[in-house]
Amino acid sequence: MTVDLVVKHATVVTPDGKVPDAGIAIDDGTIVSLGRSGQLPDAERTIDANGSVVVPGVIDTHIHNREPGLEYKGDWESATRAAAAGGVTTVVGMPNTDPVIDRPEALELKFERGEAAAHVDFQSYAVVTSENVDRIPALDAAGALGFKIFLGSTVGDVPAPTDGEILDAMTAIRETGKRLGFHEENGEIIDHYERQYRAAGKNRPIDHAHSRPVLAEREAVERMITFASDRDVPIHMFHVSSGDAADAVARGKERGVDVTAETAPHYLWFTESVLEEKGNVARVQPPIRSTDQHERLWEQFSAGVIDCIATDHAPHTDEEKLVDDPFGDTWAAISGFVGLETQVPAMLTFVDEGRLELEEWVYHHSTRPAQVWGMYPQKGSLRIGTDADLTIVDTDEAWTLEDRHALHSKNTVTPFEGESFVGRAHTTIVRGQVVYEDGRVTGEPGDGTRVDVD
Ligand code: DOR
Ligand code: ZN
Repeated sequence: MTVDLVVKHATVVTPDGKVPDAGIAIDDGTIVSLGRSGQLPDAERTIDANGSVVVPGVIDTHIHNREPGLEYKGDWESATRAAAAGGVTTVVGMPNTDPVIDRPEALELKFERGEAAAHVDFQSYAVVTSENVDRIPALDAAGALGFKIFLGSTVGDVPAPTDGEILDAMTAIRETGKRLGFHEENGEIIDHYERQYRAAGKNRPIDHAHSRPVLAEREAVERMITFASDRDVPIHMFHVSSGDAADAVARGKERGVDVTAETAPHYLWFTESVLEEKGNVARVQPPIRSTDQHERLWEQFSAGVIDCIATDHAPHTDEEKLVDDPFGDTWAAISGFVGLETQVPAMLTFVDEGRLELEEWVYHHSTRPAQVWGMYPQKGSLRIGTDADLTIVDTDEAWTLEDRHALHSKNTVTPFEGESFVGRAHTTIVRGQVVYEDGRVTGEPGDGTRVDVD
């Protein structure tokens, strides 16, 4: 038998371990065999990985793809081009688009646009607001991966539902079997301090960070864990930024609540001093925290409390980010920055530094995100019969992101510009198709497809 594609002479890494001189055979988009390099079938095309590490495709379950409606910032095509170039084979888009994804028609539009434009596989969350609790079953039926509530105001100004409405939403989401994630910052606390800081003329980038205290994050985590425990619904904490919030997640898990959590590479890489060095470029919500909070976040990540790594990839224009005046009035700047192409390098750098094992990286960046959001084992595994999504990485290459304009996003502002890494993705394969290799995106818009979940 001749298959479509064989990858051989690789070190195949999964959460279960490393297999040297191994390979994977792919036919019709799925994995048909795994084995020693010499034992694989003949193929139309063979990729000699030359000892590189091959892992189940990296999954980013937190990107702001911006389409529909905010295409001037980014769109499905540009986001998934960046994903392919960053070694990411599946992305999940956030619902703070225009329109917001609060009804089946909006979700269907977002999916249609993705089918036409995406280079890698994709999905989307639906948002829950005060207005649409009754539409949760329809959003589920329309194929949303899961649900999101913005507890505190952030980019897009999606209003938070009241606590009572959140309880009703949890009851409805429980029936869908899907997970409900949060932007977990207490809105009343952060709004209060923002008003106070603005009135006092505190307008430096670090003031923005301090106006959103860790307490607002921790309280939101604790309250949602309390609610979810009552309603018996699975919940998720997006972009956990602090040790205190991670501690609260740990306590919830100890109590037996089905609470999962993610953090982003920028919280593991930087401390708040980056706001003094790079200004509003590093402005993000929740903010990058103090050294103490950062170190305690690392402790909980190392202890396994944080399930997933995801970027919060959030493109904005140079003007919106005040690139020409990075230390200008922070209240005139917007929060968020791109991350799709620096996440694998950042995580591999932590591996190089001995802060985590390759197997742990694969677990947090592929297997676990797929499990948390109901895409496993179709995604996040290297099992026979599952989607042939592979990321091939060079774990030794030392390099520096000298110029952010080399990134593939439509807008490229990132605090990772100027940072040095060890490791990067060099080949990205989505359902057997090579979408990125040798520094070039080789796929076409529309190659990606929606991940089907029931
Ligand atoms: O910094 C952020 N940017 N935090 C969010 O919650 C939203 C995101 C965006 O959409 O730009
Ligand atoms: Zn986000």
